[in-house]
Amino acid sequence: MADSLSATARTLTVDLGPRSYDILIGAGILSRLGDEARIRFRGRRLAVVTNATVAPLFLDATRRALVEAGYQVIGIVLPDGETHKNWVTLQSIFDGLIANRFERGDGLVALGGGVVGDMTGFAAACHLRGVPFLQVPTTLLAQVDSSVGGKTGINHALGKNLIGAFHQPCLVLMDIDTLATLPKRELLAGLAEVIKYGVLWDRAFFETIETHLEAVLSGDPGLMIEILHRSCAIKAEIVAQDEREQGVRALLNLGHTFGHAVEALTGYDQWLHGEAVAMGMVVAARLAVRIGLCPPDEERRMTALIGRAGLPVRLPVHPVEAYVEAMGHDKKVEAGRIRFVLPERIGRTLVRADVDLDAVRATLAACMA
Ligand code: NAD
Ligand code: GLY
Repeated sequence: MADSLSATARTLTVDLGPRSYDILIGAGILSRLGDEARIRFRGRRLAVVTNATVAPLFLDATRRALVEAGYQVIGIVLPDGETHKNWVTLQSIFDGLIANRFERGDGLVALGGGVVGDMTGFAAACHLRGVPFLQVPTTLLAQVDSSVGGKTGINHALGKNLIGAFHQPCLVLMDIDTLATLPKRELLAGLAEVIKYGVLWDRAFFETIETHLEAVLSGDPGLMIEILHRSCAIKAEIVAQDEREQGVRALLNLGHTFGHAVEALTGYDQWLHGEAVAMGMVVAARLAVRIGLCPPDEERRMTALIGRAGLPVRLPVHPVEAYVEAMGHDKKVEAGRIRFVLPERIGRTLVRADVDLDAVRATLAACMA
């Protein structure tokens, strides 16, 4: 079956004119990476950037697929973890590229979750003022979200992803077989971003997840491919409309204003990004109810699905003012006002910059564990 990509994979295109690229989704398709890369990247050498957890699992297979297609390959292995998504780790990628004399015609491959993907993409955006890169996401979260759309970057101690660049990959190849080794907690964190697409864009998709949650959690391959496909299709549609987040792309940040505050307040090492987004979606929905934007029944239904998916629905306890201060460092602040992404109902979301901070404070207080 591996000979025929069409039999094992589904393809989507992110339509961005000269920066357009394909997303390949399937089972057992990592072995096709070299051939698929060849069609899209003519260079001679590729640096596969990964981390210490993913390298023993997939670096050999990735290297083999690329070498068989005629590439020279080096591996750059980073320490694992969100706490390493910083300048020091980024510098080590540049060290590897420069020591190996990587040129403009060479490229990078991000093999791993969103942390590796964001840092590799940023390194690719900066090295020699920009070289091509490919995304090979191996977490559910990276497959449905971070590998698509070209947002790359690192964290600052005062806030998430504050330093970065837009830099689109030339191919995204996701093999659902890589999810077999993913810890359950990480899988659930990815599911938070899947649920997010239903809430912000597609009520029918939300209902599909509601109906088939147990099958999704059991790893049903056909369903998983469908879920990746629909999630990526929604993201591709939004990114094609608004590549640099001047408008509709902001909706993808549903749950992130509160979620990023949770991550910053807890030092990036207690809660997974997807878990923080899950809590953030619940707070956003409750805030929307409080200001009369969203019917309470809709909020209850969203919160129920997030809870059924084994995700946290209560915020960790911190002073309300600490949350407000942390949210003030978010990228979504404009002219000192926090721009909240709020659901009007399941499947429809909007951005509001006029929300009374006292309503935010009251909602935060009511949402703490
Ligand atoms: P992650 O990259 O830290 O990966 C989670 C854990 O799973 C890590 O320990 C990793 O080593 C391990 N892992 C990866 N693949 C594995 C596999 N197949 N089997 C076993 N273990 C595996 O976290 P994540 O949830 O993938 O990504 C979160 C990051 O993505 C955050 O930094 C977030 O800011 C970023 N993000 C970026 C975007 C974007 O648009 N660029 C969107 C959403 C999230
Ligand atoms: N995850 C938000 C975005 O890609 O815009």
